[in-house]
Amino acid sequence: MSELVLYRKHRPQDFSSVVGQAHVVRAIQNALKLNRVAHAYLFSGPRGVGKTTIARLIAKSLNCAGAGGEKPCNTCAMCIDFNEGRALDIIEIDAASNRGIDEIRALRDAVRFVPTQGQYKTYIIDEVHMLTRDAFNALLKTLEEPPAHAVFILATTELEKVPATIISRTQHYNFRRPSAGQIAERLQSIAKKDNVLLDPDGARVIAFAAEGSFRDGESILGQVMAVEDKKITREEVENILGLPRREAAKKMFGHIAKKEVSAALRLIQELHDSGYDLAYFSKLLLQYFRSALFLKTDPGLRRFVESDMLPDEYECVTTHISAFTEDQLSRAMDIIFQNMQSFKKTPIPQLPLELTVIELIHQKGQEPDHQERV
Ligand SMILES: Nc1ncnc2c1ncn2[C@@H]1O[C@H](COP(=O)(O)OP(=O)(O)O)[C@@H](O)[C@H]1O
Ligand SMILES: [Mg+2]
Ligand SMILES: [Zn+2]
Repeated sequence: MSELVLYRKHRPQDFSSVVGQAHVVRAIQNALKLNRVAHAYLFSGPRGVGKTTIARLIAKSLNCAGAGGEKPCNTCAMCIDFNEGRALDIIEIDAASNRGIDEIRALRDAVRFVPTQGQYKTYIIDEVHMLTRDAFNALLKTLEEPPAHAVFILATTELEKVPATIISRTQHYNFRRPSAGQIAERLQSIAKKDNVLLDPDGARVIAFAAEGSFRDGESILGQVMAVEDKKITREEVENILGLPRREAAKKMFGHIAKKEVSAALRLIQELHDSGYDLAYFSKLLLQYFRSALFLKTDPGLRRFVESDMLPDEYECVTTHISAFTEDQLSRAMDIIFQNMQSFKKTPIPQLPLELTVIELIHQKGQEPDHQERV
């Protein structure tokens, strides 16, 4: 199965399938119900978190012929045309490739024509921050006097590049970055619909790799399902994606806590021989020290730590946390971080990680009262 199919197949057809972004969904559904949809919206936020999805749901709901109101019926002819990609009254423009004044002027002329099928025409302008200054000015004129049938939805990943004059003409919603848990949950429900058993840890490993984007999570799942299509475990995910085993980072944290230099160096060699990306591995290791520091600083931060790790990894942090002082943990993060900068220029691939581990274990040996004051 291609990733495109997976991605299209599961695009939310209804507001109820949108995960998170409750503040946006609530406001939009309310406006639909009261017939008070604005003429211009601005959706900002990271990529792959539902901006285009919600924009399309607005377009569909506005022209739905069913009783709907705050939601599309998904059964009328208009909704069906929409779901099958045949709707004419939704116009999607990618501002990254249509940046100039001519394109926006053409848009301004086209906006005046009444809708073809429904009551409204919805214009979605993606990556709107890419427009030139002249194009922005032309767009502003359109936003100032939009025809009654037009709804503009501007989307951007870089809000700071959108002129204040544009922002003030729109109803602005900032989209939130989903947690790994929210992404994992969605991946599991997608897998389930396709009759694939994706275990919770496997879903979390994909969600971590997706770094806050539902879209990335879904395309990674697509890659994995192309290889393994019945039952997917955490190990299979790591194998298919060629990721270093998270298990190995757990082991490494234990070696450092117990000052086992030789075992740590051997592990690095093994990882290197298996062809794993050691920079990525360092990132996993960094997570352990960060989590330990969080917990040491304030046990109330536990829920943040837990959302960034698998349950057995969290347990490993708590097991070894007493081996470090708060100060050692923060310096450890700095050491890992500094050494990560040298992965690109090192003559020996293992070197940055080896230095990291030796420094970490060595600093562990320095008791606070033996340290020289400078
Ligand atoms: N909040 C969400 N809930 C459920 N799925 C989502 C959400 N956000 C994104 N997705 C999934 O990712 C895909 C791409 O999302 P999209 O709305 O195009 O992101 P963007 O914010 O970049 O416009 C969607 O088709 C959907 O499958
Ligand atoms: Mg988008
Ligand atoms: Zn409908």
